[in-house]
Amino acid sequence: MSKRYDLRIRPRRNRRGSAIRSLVRETEIQPSHLILPLFVTEGEGVREPIGSMPGTARLSIDLVVREAREVWDLGVPAVALFPALTESLKDSVATESTNPDGLLQRTVREIKNRVPDILVVTDIAMDPYSSDGHDGFVEDGQILNDPTLEILADMAVSQARAGTDIVAPSDMMDGRVGVLREALDAEGFENVGILAYSVKYASNFYGPFREALESEPKEGDKKTYQMDSCNVREALREVRLDVAEGADMVMVKPALPYLDVIRAVKEAVDVPVAAYQVSGEYAMIQAVDERGWMDGEALMIESITSIRRAGADVILTYFAKTLAKVLA
Ligand code: PBG
Repeated sequence: MSKRYDLRIRPRRNRRGSAIRSLVRETEIQPSHLILPLFVTEGEGVREPIGSMPGTARLSIDLVVREAREVWDLGVPAVALFPALTESLKDSVATESTNPDGLLQRTVREIKNRVPDILVVTDIAMDPYSSDGHDGFVEDGQILNDPTLEILADMAVSQARAGTDIVAPSDMMDGRVGVLREALDAEGFENVGILAYSVKYASNFYGPFREALESEPKEGDKKTYQMDSCNVREALREVRLDVAEGADMVMVKPALPYLDVIRAVKEAVDVPVAAYQVSGEYAMIQAVDERGWMDGEALMIESITSIRRAGADVILTYFAKTLAKVLA
């Protein structure tokens, strides 16, 4: 028999079994907090798997609609759409981004027709439409701030006409939220919300996404607009500006490597905070699962719980459907 110690306080009592653990659990994840990002491509019945993101694919509109229906039925209230355009439709001023019959606009209309209650979130940035692969208009190797604004305002109005619920300016340049709010209101779209990618780092974790859309910058990198990963005070400046300009929600991206930033943002603003578990975060979990090195499902749950515990109200994740099924 071992010696008895006089420990009056034993935190383990609250971890004794699953019933008491569930009683005292501080963080819960639910499908209602998730947004599923989807990649759209032309065609019908087309599913092109994305090599660096096992389990995801570029889908034609009919399959995107089916996916939206399935996740809606699982309790996921929103999808975020990213169009994968053929190179021939890309140019230096993102002309295709305002085509009323463009791939994105048709996708939005189809979803709103067939799954009317699901929220559709659409990205506002030039990169899927740009022959330079940058988020902004490029001149003499410079990514120009203000000339891009006009293009983005037209893009937002075009997406609103197609029926989008929320536009998400994602280029991390200046003045986006205010200009989009004004452009949307001027056209009578005061109910279209703005989810600002307020704090988006120049991250290596976006690699698989750029492969999915073939949107890698042709020259240079995105460091003159996306944030330096070393900074957090700058993040607070960015979110405060976006809230002042009219953002309905703000986002931090990537998520898991920036949990401290999510927490700081949560404490700094009073709008809902979103976090994007990006392609590279997803790919790492899928890769170790495939190799049998770790349990992917367990990592999925733990990482998404961590993002929520850090303060995210809303989480964009490629795992949304899988997670919603696990939680069901
Ligand atoms: C582009 C955009 C990117 C992502 C979302 N919107 C990539 C980039 O900035 O290069 C990344 C998403 C992901 O990696 O999952 N405006």
